[in-house]
Amino acid sequence: TPGIVKSLLVQKDRFKLNELVLYDNNAERQEAVGVIVRHVVEMFDPELKLTLTTDPEVAMTDADFIFAQMRVGLYAMREQDEKIPLKYGVVGQETCGPGGLAYGLRTIYPMVELIDYCEKYAKPTYWIVNYSNPAAIVAKATFRLRPKARILNICDMPVAIMLSFAKMLGLEKYNDVDPVYFGLNHFGWWTHLYDKSDVDRMPELKEKIMKFGLAASHDKHHSDPSWRHTWENFKEILTDFPEYLPNTYLQYYLYAKESAEDMDPNYTRANMVMDGREKDMIEQAKLIRESGGKKEANLNLFNAFGDFIVDVACSIAYNNADRYLVIVENKGCIPQMPYDAMVEVPCYLRKWGPEPVTIGNIPQFQLGMMMQQVSSEKLIVDAYFEHSYQKALEAFTMNKTVPSAKVARKILDKMIEANKGYWPELH
Ligand code: G6P
Ligand code: MN
Repeated sequence: TPGIVKSLLVQKDRFKLNELVLYDNNAERQEAVGVIVRHVVEMFDPELKLTLTTDPEVAMTDADFIFAQMRVGLYAMREQDEKIPLKYGVVGQETCGPGGLAYGLRTIYPMVELIDYCEKYAKPTYWIVNYSNPAAIVAKATFRLRPKARILNICDMPVAIMLSFAKMLGLEKYNDVDPVYFGLNHFGWWTHLYDKSDVDRMPELKEKIMKFGLAASHDKHHSDPSWRHTWENFKEILTDFPEYLPNTYLQYYLYAKESAEDMDPNYTRANMVMDGREKDMIEQAKLIRESGGKKEANLNLFNAFGDFIVDVACSIAYNNADRYLVIVENKGCIPQMPYDAMVEVPCYLRKWGPEPVTIGNIPQFQLGMMMQQVSSEKLIVDAYFEHSYQKALEAFTMNKTVPSAKVARKILDKMIEANKGYWPELH
């Protein structure tokens, strides 16, 4: 949140800010994040009106833009998403595999509730720009339940990767390369990368990556040591599948077995985040509070996700029609994929929403993988709506990270126990 606020303040000449409101339904966390955000506001724009609230009506009333990033069940539940599958040798990940499916079932209702608050209180022209995970499932479910909602689902992984691409090509910013890309969220491929002189730099980039590997992340968030293996695995994926440049999340599907073997079942990414970023946030808030804001806090504010969400909002607000990778209904842009699949493709962002570009037909390998993944995601959304145990079992079984229906059932049963109070009851 402080990273996004910093990006907003730095770009305030481009994206006009009248007022900023922070909303959280968790008062304790709101207080800590609020202390840091207030500090960031004092650093970059002390005149700006900042309100902190746990009341959705106060938060959403007359809002133009709502930047959403919720984590339902907090890190304690992320830990379950990661550890339960790992007990059975299956990838434990917050958006991929059974972990993502479980997280999806927790997040559908709170996202719909957020949309309803916006419909009720925000300006009729509101836009929700949403980072909440698992973005693919959230997108599918909210689109089904609230098809008219003004919500755009986005992900920072492509831009974080494109920042590395740009640096390897001697360029500066993630949007110094214009991508042609197709896929689903956390599941896609770049086919071309045009620079400002309209040259496709992908052949050159591929050669460089095959020689040197993908440049380490230039994004603060993804420079964390436990992200390093993800960056290193990039070359391996490209070696096995040299046609396109992959989204890093494909490692969990293409090398599901090896990924699971590499994970420590007793100490997963959730533990690393709780012991790292979360602790740090509490400490920095304490430092600011105790020194009355006099001590310079050590904040990691330079992240691609902050700039990206502001770039996206800016294009919508001023109808700039800038072209970005976002998650939208397919509507034929990949003709072999279902019309209503939520795909991640380049879109021109207009005041009235995203306009996807036509991708055309895609090769069998990518198509097969995408159909399997999109089916798994659709089945979990069906399970939610129908309260269907059977559909949930099918979603878990369909997922490429799960080796058998027997394993799927074991994981699902454990997930049901762990998610009591979060999931609808499945029958
Ligand atoms: C990437 C993904 C996000 C995800 C994040 C997790 O940025 O695009 O969707 O939430 O990684 O990062 P973390 O540091 O929490 O493991
Ligand atoms: Mn993401």
